[in-house]
Amino acid sequence: MTIDFILDGADVSCRVRATDRLSDVLASEFPKASVGSDCRAGRCGRCLLLMDGKLVLACMVPAFRARGAEIVSPKAYALTEEGEAVAAGFEKAGVATCAFCTPQRILIAGLLLEEAAGATDARILEAMQTVQCRCVEPSALVQGVRAAVEIRAARNWHRAR
Ligand code: FES
Ligand code: FES
Repeated sequence: MTIDFILDGADVSCRVRATDRLSDVLASEFPKASVGSDCRAGRCGRCLLLMDGKLVLACMVPAFRARGAEIVSPKAYALTEEGEAVAAGFEKAGVATCAFCTPQRILIAGLLLEEAAGATDARILEAMQTVQCRCVEPSALVQGVRAAVEIRAARNWHRAR
């Protein structure tokens, strides 16, 4: 079957089989979006993306479900205001993430920004653990998210003046 959907703001279409996983289809048909497909079992978080505004693990979604959906890849999200605030927050906190999980981390952290000012460290950690990470101390990620919250608040304050 052929499905049409929006990927990072562009109308796209591709042929899929009923058994295809969304992560595999995106990885093979739309490599520029850089959606990963690693464990294919909902564990590693490499296939995280936004689908109609909701965070989903694309390896757990049948590809045909994307029909008519709006998908935002972590790579595109990193270019949004929230994504840039998170990158700046990570840098300020000295969080050095590698290419393996950086885009997915930025996406998760960006979605957390609204609640992070009032969120506990445990809540932030729980959200961040959606992605398996081999390099960064969890406590550093919490500091990175908190720094991003401050940076975003400062930007909004300057904008409102
Ligand atoms: S590929 Fe989807 S969680 Fe690992
Ligand atoms: S920063 Fe390297 S795996 Fe997460």
